[in-house]
Amino acid sequence: MRKPLFRAFLTVLLLLTLALTGCSRQAEEEKKDDALLLGFSQLGSESGWRIGNTKSVQEAAEAAGIRLMLENANQSQEKQLTALRSFIAYRVDVIAFSPIVQEGWDNVLREAREAGIPVIIEDRTVDTKDESLYAVHVGSDFYSEGVMAGEYLLKKLSTLPPETVLNVVELTGTQGSSPMLLRSAGFRDTVAKEPRVHILDSISGDFMISKGKECVRLMLEKYGTEFDVLFSHNDAMMYGALDAFGEYGVIPGRDVIIISVDGEQQAIDLLKEGKVNCVVECTPMLGEAIMQIARDLKDGKPVEREVYSSERAFTEFDDLSQLAPRGY
Ligand code: AHR
Repeated sequence: MRKPLFRAFLTVLLLLTLALTGCSRQAEEEKKDDALLLGFSQLGSESGWRIGNTKSVQEAAEAAGIRLMLENANQSQEKQLTALRSFIAYRVDVIAFSPIVQEGWDNVLREAREAGIPVIIEDRTVDTKDESLYAVHVGSDFYSEGVMAGEYLLKKLSTLPPETVLNVVELTGTQGSSPMLLRSAGFRDTVAKEPRVHILDSISGDFMISKGKECVRLMLEKYGTEFDVLFSHNDAMMYGALDAFGEYGVIPGRDVIIISVDGEQQAIDLLKEGKVNCVVECTPMLGEAIMQIARDLKDGKPVEREVYSSERAFTEFDDLSQLAPRGY
Protein backbone atom coordinates (compact mmCIF):
# COMPACT_ATOMS: atom_id res chain seq x y z
CA MET A 1 0.00 0.00 0.00
CA ARG A 2 2.86 2.44 0.83
CA LYS A 3 4.87 1.68 -2.29
CA PRO A 4 2.79 3.67 -4.87
CA LEU A 5 2.80 6.67 -2.52
CA PHE A 6 6.57 6.49 -2.15
CA ARG A 7 6.95 6.19 -5.95
CA ALA A 8 4.77 9.28 -6.45
CA PHE A 9 6.90 11.18 -3.92
CA LEU A 10 10.06 10.20 -5.80
CA THR A 11 8.55 11.32 -9.13
CA VAL A 12 7.63 14.74 -7.71
CA LEU A 13 11.11 15.09 -6.25
CA LEU A 14 12.67 14.19 -9.60
CA LEU A 15 10.47 16.66 -11.49
CA LEU A 16 11.29 19.40 -9.01
CA THR A 17 15.05 18.73 -9.32
CA LEU A 18 14.84 18.78 -13.13
CA ALA A 19 12.88 22.03 -13.08
CA LEU A 20 15.35 23.67 -10.70
CA THR A 21 18.42 22.53 -12.71
CA GLY A 22 16.73 23.75 -15.88
CA CYS A 23 16.05 27.14 -14.31
CA SER A 24 19.60 27.59 -13.07
CA ARG A 25 20.97 26.52 -16.46
CA GLN A 26 18.74 29.04 -18.20
CA ALA A 27 19.82 31.74 -15.75
CA GLU A 28 23.44 30.87 -16.43
CA GLU A 29 22.89 31.13 -20.20
CA GLU A 30 21.18 34.50 -19.76
CA LYS A 31 24.03 35.71 -17.58
CA LYS A 32 26.47 34.54 -20.24
CA ASP A 33 24.50 36.31 -22.97
CA ASP A 34 24.68 39.45 -20.90
CA ALA A 35 28.49 39.27 -20.71
CA LEU A 36 30.56 41.70 -22.74
CA LEU A 37 31.18 40.42 -26.29
CA LEU A 38 34.65 41.20 -27.64
CA GLY A 39 35.58 40.65 -31.29
CA PHE A 40 39.33 40.08 -31.58
CA SER A 41 41.11 39.88 -34.93
CA GLN A 42 44.56 38.34 -34.60
CA LEU A 43 46.83 38.92 -37.59
CA GLY A 44 48.37 35.44 -37.78
CA SER A 45 50.59 32.87 -36.06
CA GLU A 46 53.97 33.84 -37.52
CA SER A 47 56.01 33.60 -34.30
CA GLY A 48 56.12 32.23 -30.77
CA TRP A 49 55.43 35.83 -29.69
CA ARG A 50 52.19 35.90 -31.68
CA ILE A 51 51.04 32.54 -30.31
CA GLY A 52 51.77 33.83 -26.79
CA ASN A 53 49.75 36.97 -27.54
CA THR A 54 46.71 34.98 -28.72
CA LYS A 55 46.93 32.78 -25.61
CA SER A 56 47.16 35.83 -23.36
CA VAL A 57 43.97 37.29 -24.89
CA GLN A 58 42.09 33.97 -24.66
CA GLU A 59 43.08 33.34 -21.04
CA ALA A 60 42.33 36.90 -19.94
CA ALA A 61 38.89 36.83 -21.60
CA GLU A 62 38.06 33.57 -19.85
CA ALA A 63 39.24 34.92 -16.47
CA ALA A 64 37.27 38.16 -16.91
CA GLY A 65 34.06 36.40 -18.00
CA ILE A 66 34.19 38.17 -21.37
CA ARG A 67 32.84 36.33 -24.42
CA LEU A 68 35.48 36.28 -27.13
CA MET A 69 34.93 36.03 -30.89
CA LEU A 70 38.42 35.28 -32.16
CA GLU A 71 39.41 35.32 -35.84
CA ASN A 72 42.94 34.56 -37.08
CA ALA A 73 43.78 36.27 -40.40
CA ASN A 74 46.85 34.14 -41.28
CA GLN A 75 48.95 37.16 -42.31
CA SER A 76 46.33 38.63 -44.65
CA GLN A 77 45.06 42.20 -44.32
CA GLU A 78 42.08 41.27 -46.47
CA LYS A 79 41.09 38.54 -44.02
CA GLN A 80 41.48 40.98 -41.12
CA LEU A 81 39.17 43.45 -42.86
CA THR A 82 36.59 40.69 -43.40
CA ALA A 83 36.84 39.68 -39.72
CA LEU A 84 36.36 43.28 -38.56
CA ARG A 85 33.31 43.68 -40.80
CA SER A 86 31.84 40.45 -39.44
CA PHE A 87 32.26 41.77 -35.87
CA ILE A 88 30.42 44.95 -36.88
CA ALA A 89 27.61 42.96 -38.49
CA TYR A 90 27.37 40.84 -35.34
CA ARG A 91 27.12 43.99 -33.19
CA VAL A 92 29.86 43.02 -30.74
CA ASP A 93 30.30 45.39 -27.80
CA VAL A 94 33.99 46.15 -28.42
CA ILE A 95 36.47 45.31 -31.20
CA ALA A 96 40.20 44.73 -30.66
CA PHE A 97 42.72 43.93 -33.37
CA SER A 98 46.42 43.78 -34.11
CA PRO A 99 46.86 45.41 -37.54
CA ILE A 100 49.26 43.51 -39.79
CA VAL A 101 50.38 46.74 -41.51
CA GLN A 102 49.93 50.40 -40.65
CA GLU A 103 47.96 51.60 -43.68
CA GLY A 104 44.48 50.86 -45.02
CA TRP A 105 42.18 50.79 -41.99
CA ASP A 106 40.27 54.10 -42.19
CA ASN A 107 37.16 52.81 -43.98
CA VAL A 108 36.53 49.87 -41.69
CA LEU A 109 37.25 51.98 -38.60
CA ARG A 110 34.70 54.51 -39.84
CA GLU A 111 32.15 51.69 -40.23
CA ALA A 112 32.81 50.61 -36.62
CA ARG A 113 32.37 54.18 -35.41
CA GLU A 114 29.08 54.54 -37.32
CA ALA A 115 27.88 51.33 -35.65
CA GLY A 116 28.85 52.78 -32.24
CA ILE A 117 31.46 50.06 -31.55
CA PRO A 118 34.63 51.26 -29.81
CA VAL A 119 37.92 49.90 -31.16
CA ILE A 120 41.08 48.93 -29.27
CA ILE A 121 44.24 48.75 -31.40
CA GLU A 122 46.46 46.14 -29.77
CA ASP A 123 50.19 45.50 -30.28
CA ARG A 124 50.86 47.17 -33.69
CA THR A 125 49.61 50.63 -34.62
CA VAL A 126 47.63 52.10 -37.52
CA ASP A 127 48.49 55.16 -39.55
CA THR A 128 45.44 57.41 -39.82
CA LYS A 129 44.82 61.13 -40.15
CA ASP A 130 41.66 60.79 -38.06
CA GLU A 131 42.79 59.75 -34.58
CA SER A 132 39.18 59.65 -33.38
CA LEU A 133 38.64 56.46 -35.39
CA TYR A 134 39.86 54.30 -32.52
CA ALA A 135 39.63 54.61 -28.74
CA VAL A 136 42.92 53.22 -27.42
CA HIS A 137 46.22 51.74 -28.50
CA VAL A 138 47.74 49.21 -26.10
CA GLY A 139 51.13 47.67 -26.84
CA SER A 140 54.86 48.26 -27.03
CA ASP A 141 56.87 51.36 -27.83
CA PHE A 142 58.59 49.92 -30.92
CA TYR A 143 60.74 53.01 -31.47
CA SER A 144 62.22 52.64 -27.95
CA GLU A 145 62.91 48.96 -28.68
CA GLY A 146 65.03 50.01 -31.67
CA VAL A 147 66.78 52.60 -29.50
CA MET A 148 67.60 49.94 -26.86
CA ALA A 149 69.05 47.68 -29.57
CA GLY A 150 71.21 50.55 -30.84
CA GLU A 151 72.34 51.52 -27.34
CA TYR A 152 73.48 47.97 -26.69
CA LEU A 153 75.54 48.01 -29.89
CA LEU A 154 77.23 51.31 -28.94
CA LYS A 155 78.08 49.86 -25.54
CA LYS A 156 79.49 46.72 -27.15
CA LEU A 157 81.58 48.84 -29.52
CA SER A 158 83.05 50.73 -26.57
CA THR A 159 84.52 47.42 -25.31
CA LEU A 160 86.25 46.66 -28.67
CA PRO A 161 89.56 48.05 -30.02
CA PRO A 162 89.18 51.70 -31.16
CA GLU A 163 89.82 50.92 -34.83
CA THR A 164 86.82 48.50 -34.92
CA VAL A 165 84.16 49.12 -37.57
CA LEU A 166 80.90 47.17 -37.27
CA ASN A 167 78.92 46.27 -40.40
CA VAL A 168 75.28 45.60 -39.57
CA VAL A 169 72.75 43.51 -41.46
CA GLU A 170 69.22 44.41 -40.46
CA LEU A 171 66.67 41.59 -40.72
CA THR A 172 63.36 43.42 -40.65
CA GLY A 173 59.82 42.29 -39.93
CA THR A 174 56.78 42.54 -42.23
CA GLN A 175 57.10 45.43 -44.69
CA GLY A 176 54.84 48.32 -43.78
CA SER A 177 54.14 47.06 -40.24
CA SER A 178 54.65 49.44 -37.33
CA PRO A 179 57.26 47.30 -35.47
CA MET A 180 59.27 47.04 -38.69
CA LEU A 181 59.19 50.78 -39.37
CA LEU A 182 59.70 51.97 -35.80
CA ARG A 183 62.35 49.46 -34.66
CA SER A 184 64.30 50.35 -37.74
CA ALA A 185 63.96 54.11 -37.12
CA GLY A 186 64.90 53.84 -33.41
CA PHE A 187 67.97 51.74 -34.17
CA ARG A 188 69.16 53.94 -37.05
CA ASP A 189 68.65 57.19 -35.10
CA THR A 190 70.71 55.76 -32.23
CA VAL A 191 73.68 54.43 -34.19
CA ALA A 192 73.72 57.37 -36.67
CA LYS A 193 76.00 59.40 -34.39
CA GLU A 194 78.67 56.66 -34.47
CA PRO A 195 80.59 56.55 -37.79
CA ARG A 196 82.14 53.19 -36.84
CA VAL A 197 78.70 51.55 -37.14
CA HIS A 198 77.72 50.99 -40.73
CA ILE A 199 74.42 49.53 -41.94
CA LEU A 200 75.45 47.17 -44.70
CA ASP A 201 72.02 45.97 -45.77
CA SER A 202 68.40 45.60 -44.73
CA ILE A 203 66.20 42.67 -45.77
CA SER A 204 62.70 41.56 -44.74
CA GLY A 205 62.21 38.12 -43.20
CA ASP A 206 58.52 38.81 -42.47
CA PHE A 207 58.95 37.92 -38.76
CA MET A 208 59.24 34.19 -39.67
CA ILE A 209 61.87 31.54 -38.87
CA SER A 210 62.02 30.11 -42.41
CA LYS A 211 62.35 33.51 -44.07
CA GLY A 212 64.93 34.64 -41.51
CA LYS A 213 67.05 31.64 -42.45
CA GLU A 214 66.72 32.31 -46.20
CA CYS A 215 67.60 35.99 -45.81
CA VAL A 216 70.71 35.31 -43.73
CA ARG A 217 71.90 32.70 -46.22
CA LEU A 218 71.61 35.38 -48.93
CA MET A 219 73.44 37.95 -46.82
CA LEU A 220 76.25 35.50 -46.03
CA GLU A 221 76.64 34.71 -49.73
CA LYS A 222 76.72 38.42 -50.54
CA TYR A 223 78.94 39.76 -47.75
CA GLY A 224 80.84 36.76 -46.31
CA THR A 225 83.04 37.83 -43.40
CA GLU A 226 82.16 41.54 -43.84
CA PHE A 227 78.96 40.76 -41.91
CA ASP A 228 79.71 41.68 -38.24
CA VAL A 229 76.32 42.30 -36.62
CA LEU A 230 72.81 40.92 -37.10
CA PHE A 231 69.94 43.11 -35.90
CA SER A 232 66.90 40.84 -36.16
CA HIS A 233 63.52 42.50 -35.61
CA ASN A 234 62.26 39.41 -33.78
CA ASP A 235 63.36 36.19 -32.11
CA ALA A 236 61.73 33.89 -34.67
CA MET A 237 63.85 35.24 -37.55
CA MET A 238 66.91 35.11 -35.31
CA TYR A 239 66.37 31.34 -34.75
CA GLY A 240 66.35 30.86 -38.52
CA ALA A 241 69.46 33.04 -38.82
CA LEU A 242 71.34 30.90 -36.30
CA ASP A 243 70.62 27.83 -38.46
CA ALA A 244 72.03 29.65 -41.50
CA PHE A 245 75.16 30.70 -39.56
CA GLY A 246 75.62 27.05 -38.58
CA GLU A 247 75.58 26.01 -42.26
CA TYR A 248 78.34 28.53 -43.04
CA GLY A 249 80.49 27.65 -40.02
CA VAL A 250 79.92 31.08 -38.45
CA ILE A 251 79.76 31.09 -34.64
CA PRO A 252 76.94 33.39 -33.52
CA GLY A 253 77.65 35.58 -30.51
CA ARG A 254 81.38 35.44 -31.29
CA ASP A 255 81.99 35.82 -35.06
CA VAL A 256 78.79 37.83 -35.50
CA ILE A 257 77.13 39.96 -32.80
CA ILE A 258 73.47 38.95 -32.52
CA ILE A 259 70.73 41.38 -31.44
CA SER A 260 67.09 40.34 -31.39
CA VAL A 261 63.72 41.60 -30.17
CA ASP A 262 60.86 39.90 -28.23
CA GLY A 263 62.42 38.07 -25.28
CA GLU A 264 60.98 34.60 -25.76
CA GLN A 265 62.32 32.01 -23.30
CA GLN A 266 64.30 30.30 -26.08
CA ALA A 267 66.03 33.59 -26.96
CA ILE A 268 66.93 34.23 -23.32
CA ASP A 269 68.37 30.70 -23.09
CA LEU A 270 70.49 31.39 -26.22
CA LEU A 271 71.65 34.66 -24.64
CA LYS A 272 72.71 32.77 -21.50
CA GLU A 273 74.60 30.27 -23.71
CA GLY A 274 76.48 33.13 -25.40
CA LYS A 275 74.95 32.50 -28.86
CA VAL A 276 73.02 35.78 -28.71
CA ASN A 277 74.36 39.08 -27.34
CA CYS A 278 71.27 41.17 -26.72
CA VAL A 279 67.51 40.57 -26.60
CA VAL A 280 65.18 43.56 -26.37
CA GLU A 281 61.95 42.79 -24.59
CA CYS A 282 58.57 43.13 -26.32
CA THR A 283 55.82 41.61 -24.23
CA PRO A 284 52.88 39.77 -25.83
CA MET A 285 51.07 39.62 -22.46
CA LEU A 286 48.45 42.22 -23.36
CA GLY A 287 45.31 40.21 -22.58
CA GLU A 288 44.54 41.58 -19.10
CA ALA A 289 44.99 45.19 -20.20
CA ILE A 290 42.70 44.63 -23.20
CA MET A 291 39.93 43.14 -21.02
CA GLN A 292 40.11 46.02 -18.53
CA ILE A 293 39.97 48.60 -21.32
CA ALA A 294 37.10 46.75 -23.04
CA ARG A 295 35.10 46.83 -19.78
CA ASP A 296 35.79 50.52 -19.25
CA LEU A 297 34.76 51.33 -22.81
CA LYS A 298 31.54 49.37 -22.47
CA ASP A 299 30.78 51.12 -19.17
CA GLY A 300 31.50 54.51 -20.75
CA LYS A 301 34.40 55.17 -18.38
CA PRO A 302 37.33 57.37 -19.49
CA VAL A 303 40.33 55.46 -20.85
CA GLU A 304 43.93 56.38 -21.54
CA ARG A 305 44.54 56.88 -25.23
CA GLU A 306 47.99 55.21 -25.30
CA VAL A 307 48.96 52.34 -23.00
CA TYR A 308 52.59 51.24 -23.34
CA SER A 309 54.02 48.07 -21.77
CA SER A 310 57.07 48.57 -19.61
CA GLU A 311 60.06 46.85 -21.25
CA ARG A 312 63.84 46.48 -20.99
CA ALA A 313 66.82 44.99 -22.81
CA PHE A 314 68.62 41.80 -21.69
CA THR A 315 72.27 41.80 -22.69
CA GLU A 316 75.48 39.82 -22.32
CA PHE A 317 76.55 42.46 -19.77
CA ASP A 318 73.69 41.66 -17.38
CA ASP A 319 73.40 39.09 -14.62
CA LEU A 320 70.39 37.07 -15.78
CA SER A 321 70.62 34.31 -13.17
CA GLN A 322 67.54 35.57 -11.29
CA LEU A 323 65.40 36.23 -14.34
CA ALA A 324 61.91 34.74 -13.93
CA PRO A 325 60.62 32.32 -16.63
CA ARG A 326 59.32 34.40 -19.51
CA GLY A 327 56.03 32.56 -20.05
CA TYR A 328 56.25 32.80 -23.85
O1 AHR B 1 54.08 43.13 -33.50
C1 AHR B 1 54.96 42.48 -32.64
C2 AHR B 1 55.85 41.59 -33.44
O2 AHR B 1 55.09 40.70 -34.20
C3 AHR B 1 56.78 40.72 -32.64
O3 AHR B 1 58.02 41.28 -32.42
C4 AHR B 1 56.93 39.56 -33.56
O4 AHR B 1 57.53 38.44 -33.01
C5 AHR B 1 55.55 39.39 -34.01
O5 AHR B 1 55.41 38.58 -35.07
